Order: sequence, then C-alpha cells, then structure tokens
Amino acid sequence: MIPEEKIFEDKIAREVRIEPRDWMPADYRKLLIRQMSQHAHSEIVGMLPEGNWITRAPSLRRKATLIAKVQDEAGHGLYLYSATETLGITREETIDQLHSGKAKYSSIFNYPTLTWADIGAIGWLVDGAAIMNQVPLCRASFGPYARAMVRICKEESFHQRQGFEILLTLSRGSEAQKHMCQDAINRWWWPSVMMFGPPDDASPHNQKSMQWKIKRFSNDELRQKFIDVCAEQVRVLGMKLPDDKMKWNEDEQHYDFGEINWTEFREVVNGNGPCNKERLEARKKAHAEGAWVREAAAAYAGKKNHSSNNQ
Ligand code: 3HC
Repeated sequence: MIPEEKIFEDKIAREVRIEPRDWMPADYRKLLIRQMSQHAHSEIVGMLPEGNWITRAPSLRRKATLIAKVQDEAGHGLYLYSATETLGITREETIDQLHSGKAKYSSIFNYPTLTWADIGAIGWLVDGAAIMNQVPLCRASFGPYARAMVRICKEESFHQRQGFEILLTLSRGSEAQKHMCQDAINRWWWPSVMMFGPPDDASPHNQKSMQWKIKRFSNDELRQKFIDVCAEQVRVLGMKLPDDKMKWNEDEQHYDFGEINWTEFREVVNGNGPCNKERLEARKKAHAEGAWVREAAAAYAGKKNHSSNNQ
C-alpha cells in the first residue's frame, strides 16, 4: 500500500472527511462521481412529475407550496452537481451522460402523476424514502457530498410534511377524495420501495460504498426502515398500503412485506418505464432552450474577468 493510500484509509477509519484536494483511490473518486451525479440527475428529473401539477394545484396555498418544493429540488440538483465537479468532472460531461442515457436517475421519476393525490403520495413516500436514504449520507466520508446533504435534508422534511398533509386532507374529505388518496398510495407504494435499489446481494456497489463510508446502511436496511415507518404512518391516514403480506414480526421487530417486482424495477432502470422517454426528452428540450442563458452568463463572466484583469 503506497503511503498516500495508507493516509486515506486511516482518515476513513478515523472518520476524518476526505476533501477534494486530498489523495483518493481512483475507484473512490469513480464511485462518488457515479453516485453524486446520478443523485443530482434524480433531483432535476424529479422536478418534472411534480411540475406537471403546479398549474393545476387546487388552491393558491397548495400552488405556492408546490412551487417552493420544485424550486428546492432544482437547488438540490445544483448543490450536487457542484459537489460532483470538485471530483474533476465538468457540469457539461455529467449533463451529457444523462442526455445520452449513459447515466441513471432514480427509477421513481419514471411514473406518471395522474391526479392531485399523486403530489401528496410523492411528498409522503418519495421524499420520505429520500430522507431515509439521505440522512445517513450527511455522514458520508466525502466532505462536499456530506455537507450538501445536510442542507438538502432540512428541506426534504418540509417536502415530506406537505405531502403527508395533502393526503391527510384528502383522507378526511369526500368519498371521491378518499378514493383518489388510496389510488395514489396504491400506485406509488411499490416504486417507492424500489427506490432503495436492488437487494444487497444484487448490489455491485454496496460493499465498496459501505467500506469507504459513502453509504452507512445497505439498500435492504434502509428499505426495511422505510417500510416500518410507513406501515405506522398510513394508519393516521386511515388508508392501506397495497401489500396484503405486510405483517408485524414480533421476533424481528420489523414488518414483513411481500415480494418486490424486480423485473419491473429492471425494466424501469433500463429505460422501459411508463415515462422514461418523456422525461429525457423534456430534459434535453429544457437544456437546449436554456443554452442562451448559459452563453449570456459565460459572456458576462468573461467580460467581468477581462475588466478586472485590466484594472
Ligand atoms: N433508480 C435507478 N437506478 C438505480 C436505483 C434506482 N432507484 N437503485 C439502484 N440503481 C442503479 C445504481 O445506480 C447502479 O447502477 P450504476 O452502476 O449504473 O450506477 C445499479 O442500480 C446497482 O445499484 P447499487 O445498489 O449497487 O448502487 P448504489 O450503491 O449506488 O445504491 C442508491 C443505489 C441507494 C440509489 C445510491 O446510489 C444512493 O444512495 N444514491 C443517493 C440517493 C439518490 O440518488 N436518491 C435518488 C432519489 S433523489 C430524490 O428522491 C429527490 C427527492 O427530493 C425527491
């Protein structure tokens, strides 16, 4: 082991943050660029299903809250793209990887938002799953990632609360509203459970990611925590989770749950989900239409640098 690697491993063991200028194994850098850029892509693509309901929110308060949430997701994406750039990859390269289909984003955002209740289900379940996954990432070994997560998690809890409140309102409404609430939970439950990734024994990155303290818990551990929390919360809504195998296991102190449809997961991750094509087309169109803003900002920055160099 070369001296730099020994220093690196020692820092990981002592919970000393790895910073961009520190020596790091090429595989550590690669693992981080992959996960952080895909996390950023997920935040940006995640704006699309919810943005779809901003013009149709049922009240000004709901509209203002949803606009704030979607804006937050854009900010999360920017923190994460900036943190990824500290590892030596440009913003253009990461965006190209998304647009070319080389990079992934979270499977969950390839499902359609069919009713207003979906916005509640996304807040409660998708942001709830994101919080379960992201709180441990606040202790990730790579400094910029961990620090971005601290800021992001603060905003996620607002996202989850507003989603749960939407469902609570519907669950106390008319029969049609109750039906809409249960229908959204039925459609978003299993895709949210899949968000945590493949089972641990089918996860090629789990072992390295845990060894280098990027991940603090495995996919299955976080999935189980999420299921245990939601199984209790759904009672407050007076609704049911669409899993008739879900049952409290006294010995394990966990909820047992039914089979996850990994074929569906693989299909969605491989681009064959209900909205994959639409999502990527929307991102490419927005990027093309935003080119003039990037050019103007670059021209302004260039002009500013030029005049400050001449002072
Ligand atoms: N969707 C798409 N791809 C997924 C996936 C999912 N839900 N879960 C796993 N994968 C991919 C992985 O990216 C990997 O493919 P790759 O090698 O091409 O990158 C492959 O499946 C194997 O999965 P692993 O479990 O081995 O991969 P990881 O160790 O990276 O674990 C992860 C997957 C748990 C998603 C991890 O990457 C992670 O914690 N990422 C950070 C959190 C994140 O990205 N969350 C996405 C949602 S963001 C969000 O919800 C925003 C909120 O505000 C709404």
